[in-house]
Amino acid sequence: MTTVALKDVTKIFQDGTVAVDNVSLDVADGEFMVLLGPSGCGKSTVLRMVAGLEDPTNGAIMLDGQLANQLAPRDRRIAMVFQDFALYPHMTVGDNIGFPLRLSGVEPQPRAERVADVASALGIGDVLARKPSQLSGGQRQRVAMGRAIVRRPGLFLMDEPLSNLDSGLRAELRAEISGLVHELGVSTIYVTHDQAEALTMADRVAIMRKGVLQDVGTPTEVYGKPATLYVAAFLGSPRMNLLEASVYVHLDRYVQLNLGEQSLYLRWDDIRARAVSHYHGERIVVGVRAEALMPVSPDTPGDVLQGRIRYLEHHGHESLAFVDIGATAVIVDELGGAPSNAEENGQRGLRRFGHVLSRLSGRNAPRDAGMTQVAERTSVLSDGRHHRRPAELAVRLAPYPQVSSGHPLAVQVRMEALHFFDERGDRIDVGRR
Ligand SMILES: Nc1ncnc2c1ncn2[C@@H]1O[C@H](COP(=O)(O)OP(=O)(O)O)[C@@H](O)[C@H]1O
Ligand SMILES: [Mg+2]
Repeated sequence: MTTVALKDVTKIFQDGTVAVDNVSLDVADGEFMVLLGPSGCGKSTVLRMVAGLEDPTNGAIMLDGQLANQLAPRDRRIAMVFQDFALYPHMTVGDNIGFPLRLSGVEPQPRAERVADVASALGIGDVLARKPSQLSGGQRQRVAMGRAIVRRPGLFLMDEPLSNLDSGLRAELRAEISGLVHELGVSTIYVTHDQAEALTMADRVAIMRKGVLQDVGTPTEVYGKPATLYVAAFLGSPRMNLLEASVYVHLDRYVQLNLGEQSLYLRWDDIRARAVSHYHGERIVVGVRAEALMPVSPDTPGDVLQGRIRYLEHHGHESLAFVDIGATAVIVDELGGAPSNAEENGQRGLRRFGHVLSRLSGRNAPRDAGMTQVAERTSVLSDGRHHRRPAELAVRLAPYPQVSSGHPLAVQVRMEALHFFDERGDRIDVGRR
């Protein structure tokens, strides 16, 4: 099947909008690549350029190793499925699926056989005689898929094909689509703004922000070792806790990460301590996911943070505690809609008005002032105003915990699961993955 390579592809629209900014990306034979990012980050534009519906302003689109910039859409062996797929309402399901074959002159008999094969693969073999209006949303989506695969394309391009469906159906079709596509062995580029969808479906995920590719990797790679602060914040639910920390090196002993009222300590023999120690006297961002925090009894020794529960959220299978630990949260903007958790709630809604990755001013501050500035618990937002934004550390608890708002809570931190980012939002790391 078709391989795709984008080489330094840029798209600037007539009005000057830079929709895609120097993106390079490879899709291997049979690979399921998910393009992920918030609305407006350039995902559809990438897809449309691959399909030949838009011309890149700069760069090369390669299909099967051949430059395809000049290739007409119909010569690209591509099938597209959109969010607003339209079925022909007056045609039966069978005729809808078979329509592309009819257009290319396939005889009725082989056409009917191909349609029947595709329909049975999609589990809609028994509704071939119905009209689209007599189908459920999920069945209609399957018909659209059927129409796309019936021509045996070399490449699928899917642009948020599940966005209009309710969440139960979406989850069901996710598994079906990726299963089907893998079975057919067709290379696929699948666009979504839904990080859970991306992580569950993808062989690899490419995360975009404002036209720029941030990170590419398997779901495990991008989730476990995000290349940027943005990717760290975008992936996962609840979102990764992102805390301002000032770095203080105690030679041969440890690197202190001062979070405000409390500190964490990277032992000197920890390989990451050396990388982080370069930021002595400066501020960095420490990221810690909820699964790296474990409630413990308050007198537990070791890497433990003490706090007070600000509020709780019950999700049935678990509860989330949001804990004030006297630290400052770093706000990452342009995440689009939050994952379906806490952050959608009214009382946390404020967060979503945070602006561009709040700039940490530590690097410019006099070195000896670093500590006291953190203690102010103030974060600088890009609009220039200062907000006090105490961190609310998201911690997972068992369902129906024996605690409530206002209770003290101690959490043990799995130090090896911490993430570190510099003031520009790039990962601080020892070696690349
Ligand atoms: N034809 C166009 N003319 C001008 N700007 C456009 C056009 N199409 C898209 N854009 C802009 O390009 C950016 C990326 O759009 P798009 O690729 O549709 O994003 P996404 O699919 O990630 O939501 C957006 O700012 C959008 O407004
Ligand atoms: Mg789009």
